[in-house]
Amino acid sequence: MEKTFYFTGGKTPPETFPTDALALISQKAIKKIGGAFAFYPRQHEYSSYSDLGYKGLREVVSLRYKRREGVALPIDNIVVTSGSMQAIELVGRALLKPGDIIITEELTYYGSLEFFRYLKLNVIGIPVDDKRGMEIDILEDTLKCFDRLNLKPKIIYTIPNHHNPTGAIMTEKRRKRLLDLAYSYNIPIFEDDCYGDIDFYKDRKPRSINTLDDEGNVLFVGSFSKILGPGIRLGYLYAKDNYLNTILSHRWDLGTSVLASIIVAEYLKEKMWDHLEKHIKVIKRKMDITLKALGEYAGEYTKCTPPRGGLFIWVKITQNIDMEKLSLYAERRNVKYDEGKLFHYRERELKALRLSYAHIPDEEIPIGIKRLSEAIREAII
Ligand SMILES: Cc1ncc(COP(=O)(O)O)c(C=O)c1O
Repeated sequence: MEKTFYFTGGKTPPETFPTDALALISQKAIKKIGGAFAFYPRQHEYSSYSDLGYKGLREVVSLRYKRREGVALPIDNIVVTSGSMQAIELVGRALLKPGDIIITEELTYYGSLEFFRYLKLNVIGIPVDDKRGMEIDILEDTLKCFDRLNLKPKIIYTIPNHHNPTGAIMTEKRRKRLLDLAYSYNIPIFEDDCYGDIDFYKDRKPRSINTLDDEGNVLFVGSFSKILGPGIRLGYLYAKDNYLNTILSHRWDLGTSVLASIIVAEYLKEKMWDHLEKHIKVIKRKMDITLKALGEYAGEYTKCTPPRGGLFIWVKITQNIDMEKLSLYAERRNVKYDEGKLFHYRERELKALRLSYAHIPDEEIPIGIKRLSEAIREAII
């Protein structure tokens, strides 16, 4: 069977996964607590007899945050989850009910969007600038409008770092304005920082909204999926006590795997920064290869803002194109990508698509992009 090129999903490079190091450290890690695996997490000291999850991993989360933000997160306000998606699910189930208004970027992660739709929320999308993130003027007008109608959005969900799918990084000025608006309308912010550490450049980044907040108004979610691999299924949520207690009272799964947690914690507490450096280098190299191929084969009819990190390239098609035909023509060439409309809060047809490239072998990227470019050319009206 002919090979299919999957430029889909938010996957990581298999070659940077620390297989040998994890295998080695597992032995030590497992022996460290041994028979304690016979207990549920909340029944043991390793989780501080709480639903927060393995303490050693919460310490790693706190350190990871400190390295970037300059301040540590208090470990008793961090809860370990099965991927950041479970954190999103916990927040949704605990704080939102059908009919509630949730504000998101107009384009956003489709996993969250699908879950918000499943919860029957009323999703309102705010346009997002490819470089600077959510358009805060429009957010302000939208909030004023809801206020006049006596309606109150329940939460503002945002992906400020390496936004999925556009790659935008919300400026610090916008983050501060977002916080001020959230304070004045008394709406919590739900900050999804899945990609925060996948930075290609070492210059100073805006501080997280959570760091800028001093009123406990931000729920912050992070993940190990994008720095190690999504198969690990470990993420986390940070929130102040009032939110955290409500959220935990809606959790029924008896906790996240301590086995996975302890292995990852023992590895990352020593190796996080060395690993990240190598990991990011490989992702950047693959991003460069993808951008180069796009320029070479599709430069005349596509446009993209080179991302400063994350795992995606958001490609806009500059000519009139039939997106349904594009999907068909790409399929005939064994190329898959994520259609732009998947990310739109109202599934609006867009002349855009998202490419995920980090998991593809270097030499295959140009072949796949060439095929995709041929499909685009054929679908242009
Ligand atoms: C913005 C965003 N949030 C959350 C997730 C869920 O990731 P995970 O559950 O693997 O941590 C993803 C996955 O791609 C994502 O892009």
